[in-house]
Amino acid sequence: MKKIVVINGPNLNFLGIREKSVYGKLNYNEVINYILDYAKKEDFEVEVFQSNSEGSIIDRLQQCYYDGIDGIIINPGAYTHYSYAIRDAVASIMIPTIEMHISNVYEREDFRKISVIKDVCVKQIYGKGIKGYIEALEYFKLVLPQ
Ligand code: DQA
Repeated sequence: MKKIVVINGPNLNFLGIREKSVYGKLNYNEVINYILDYAKKEDFEVEVFQSNSEGSIIDRLQQCYYDGIDGIIINPGAYTHYSYAIRDAVASIMIPTIEMHISNVYEREDFRKISVIKDVCVKQIYGKGIKGYIEALEYFKLVLPQ
């Protein structure tokens, strides 16, 4: 069974509270259940992690290396736009990683158009709402060896 870790960065635990017109009405637990329900159907082993701290996200990424994780889906929140430390962690672990955003970062403020993570990821998904997490799992279904 493919082992995937979903990592959500700062303020994503505030889904359902923060800017609902941008991020939707579902709260964080509902979003996790949506991901886990799909994972169960498709025979993925998925673990979801969320942190508001850069260091904890880096620790979790490094743990993926030791755990032999097959793929990572990361929504680094605002860290996307400036965290070279998260970028370096993604590059270090050599695990296919998908950068995922709920909103369309290219149609918002200019600072969101820059991702320092993108180049070390195998794919970037944005603007699909929480369905983007499912699209990321579907991508792994196609590209990861059985
Ligand atoms: C986000 C987009 C980021 O710009 C923002 O800082 C977030 C969420 C998204 O999922 O659309 O926190 O990553």
